[in-house]
Amino acid sequence: MSDAAKLDLGTQTVELPIIEGSEGEKAIDISALRSQTGFITIDPGYGNTGSCTSGITFLNGEVGILKYRGVPIEVLAERSNFLEVSYLLAHGGLPKKAELEHFSNGIKKHSHIPSEILDMVKCFPKTAHPMGVMSAITSALSGFNDQLLTSNVTDEQKEESMSILLGQLPVIAAAFYRHSQSKEFIPPREDLDYVSNFLNMLFGDDGYVVDPEVARALDILLILHGDHEQNCSASTVRMVGSSKANIFATISAGIDALWGPLHGGANQAVLEMLAAIQEDGGDYKKFLAKAKDKEDPFKLMGFGHRVYKNFDPRAKIIKSACDTILNKLGVKDPILDIAKGLEEQALVDKYFVDRKLYPNVDFYSGIIYKALGIPVNMFTVMFILGRIPGWFSQWKELIEDPKMRICRPRQIYTGNTTLNYSDIGER
Ligand code: CMC
Repeated sequence: MSDAAKLDLGTQTVELPIIEGSEGEKAIDISALRSQTGFITIDPGYGNTGSCTSGITFLNGEVGILKYRGVPIEVLAERSNFLEVSYLLAHGGLPKKAELEHFSNGIKKHSHIPSEILDMVKCFPKTAHPMGVMSAITSALSGFNDQLLTSNVTDEQKEESMSILLGQLPVIAAAFYRHSQSKEFIPPREDLDYVSNFLNMLFGDDGYVVDPEVARALDILLILHGDHEQNCSASTVRMVGSSKANIFATISAGIDALWGPLHGGANQAVLEMLAAIQEDGGDYKKFLAKAKDKEDPFKLMGFGHRVYKNFDPRAKIIKSACDTILNKLGVKDPILDIAKGLEEQALVDKYFVDRKLYPNVDFYSGIIYKALGIPVNMFTVMFILGRIPGWFSQWKELIEDPKMRICRPRQIYTGNTTLNYSDIGER
């Protein structure tokens, strides 16, 4: 294949460089197109736009492959743990034992939240959606970490930012959960591993002992949510970070993007959809018909993906983890049967087959969270906790790129060319 593409514009032909990634993906580099020709490209929703090159996560949606830094997600889910995966994503390689210990100790050291942050969490109505709380408080962390607000961030500052985010966001999430339940705050414990500590901060009233099976199930879910290349929230993180906004403002923006039901908020929406089907008598075929009806805004939540046109590999792992953990906990949840029935029908239905719509990561994850005792409005917060290393790594890669420029797309204007300004009383 030639290393340049020819674009014929009628009056002018230009050659555009072709670049190829390490997994053979190809792109036409149009960065000089406008200066050479006056043309821009247009791609609403960015379905065909590569916004960056990246060495963090590879995914092939046609085949259903997902790798972090070259390691398949299946291997990480089976053999790794969330902190090791966080290190891998942020640093680009697997840590030696001492490196992982150092990383973990840094997080523990930074996991105590300022008392004012706890007061702020408690100022929110108990009924507030936890995603809004997480976004606001993450942004507020900038007020407590002046030392990290420079625009030329050093390696030490990056490490400290990562430790604060990984250390404090779970504490803030658990603190708000306890507040919403009118329960006392439980501070973090350094003698517990990362996931057990989180579970203890949520549920650690007298007599509570963390079940290792539960901790492992949660650990796997966090690993599976670690990163997913240039999705809506990662792109938001890169967009905001490209203005050299500080790390807390940047991650807060990522949280807001994640909240939407077409992105991370889908895990809450799936559970609500399954509950609605159950309440309606369990007739999932009726809901399948609604999802296919173009006059009806209803969509099958937890189905479909911009990039996967095959099984989402994360969904496969979660489905089997779901069976295992519900069996181990002795939970019989009729909602799981509804989900399985819905999936079975959708996978043979012409509408879904033709459009290559498969269950995504959010389809079964909520059933596990529910079995672990996590309330439905906290599901997307669980997604945040898993995605911290991904957002951080995308931001780190962005600010370390010597070619980094502020993200600033263009547009084709379609509005009025002239509108006469008249005085307000004369309109
Ligand atoms: N139910 C019914 N029809 C669907 C669905 C669905 N869940 N998803 C896509 N379609 C249809 C869509 O209407 C379109 O039909 P047509 O070609 O007749 O116009 C076709 O499939 C192609 O879909 P699209 O709208 O071009 O897909 P997209 O890439 O713009 O959107 C999506 C991707 C994930 C937003 C969408 O599939 C969706 O809304 N799914 C439900 C919400 C969801 O589960 N989101 C979580 C995504 S995975 C985790 C994450 O990102 O955080």
